[in-house]
Amino acid sequence: MSTVLVTGGTGALGRHIVESLRARGHEVRVLSRRAGAGTHVGDLSTGAGLAEAVAGAEVIVHAATDSRSLRCPDPGQTEQLLRVAGQVRHLLYVSIVGIDDIPFPYYRSKLACEKLIVDSGVPHTILRATQFHELLAAALSVAGKLPIAPLPLDFRFQPVATPEVAARVAELADGEPMGRAADFGGPEVLTLEESVRVWRAAHGVPRGTVRLPLPGRVASAFRRGVNTCPDHRDGTVTFARYVAANEGNPYAR
Ligand SMILES: NC(=O)c1ccc[n+]([C@@H]2O[C@H](COP(=O)([O-])OP(=O)(O)OC[C@H]3O[C@@H](n4cnc5c(N)ncnc54)[C@H](OP(=O)(O)O)[C@@H]3O)[C@@H](O)[C@H]2O)c1
Repeated sequence: MSTVLVTGGTGALGRHIVESLRARGHEVRVLSRRAGAGTHVGDLSTGAGLAEAVAGAEVIVHAATDSRSLRCPDPGQTEQLLRVAGQVRHLLYVSIVGIDDIPFPYYRSKLACEKLIVDSGVPHTILRATQFHELLAAALSVAGKLPIAPLPLDFRFQPVATPEVAARVAELADGEPMGRAADFGGPEVLTLEESVRVWRAAHGVPRGTVRLPLPGRVASAFRRGVNTCPDHRDGTVTFARYVAANEGNPYAR
């Protein structure tokens, strides 16, 4: 049994990582900015509370992110964490498939985090996953509010279930630091048009769509499926099964 600190342990993925680690018998600390939401209050932006949260922990799983901020604060937050992580046996970082080749600002910031971790000398594992079911569901839920939704219907995704990614994270965190782990993807690659069909069958919306012809390198990368890893169909839960189970969406909070 180890003491493991999970940053982002209140998030869509992190809550399942916490469950998986506890099921493996670890003592799990959950960092959150909000008192009562986790076990330790701390803020990766300012560094407040981090030293206390990390003290005595052997493993850190870094799954916190601020993907909604246009300032892309994740690298600064990762630096704050690395400042106090010198003594840990293993730091596991959750990243995203294909980010080297998709010049999207948030993905650039994830790549910068990976580099900071690699250069830090802290023993680490980086696990890149494909897009979560929750992310696709959140986007389609917004699109469903429009009478006709303009969407990049030819974008490709390989959506994956967060509990399955979490189980892999927990397994890797238990092992030795290995640098880059093999990518982790969902069971099928879908175009957005195919995902819309699945969503519409369950929710009746969006009733109509119109193809949004997005220019640029980011759109081209999503059309080519650079964000997918068809050779790693690790997850078993399809988007249709996720939608049918309709467990609620943490991104809607
Ligand atoms: N979404 C996807 O499709 C996808 C795909 C592949 C990989 N990933 C990666 O998986 C990881 C988890 O993503 P997610 O979608 O589960 O995240 P999420 O639901 O948006 O949760 C974000 C988490 O980060 C924490 N956080 C944010 N700012 C913080 C700060 N300043 N200090 C401390 N904690 C902070 C939040 O904690 P509090 O609000 O409680 O403070 C929350 O637990 C990320 O690294 C993401 O890049 C995501």
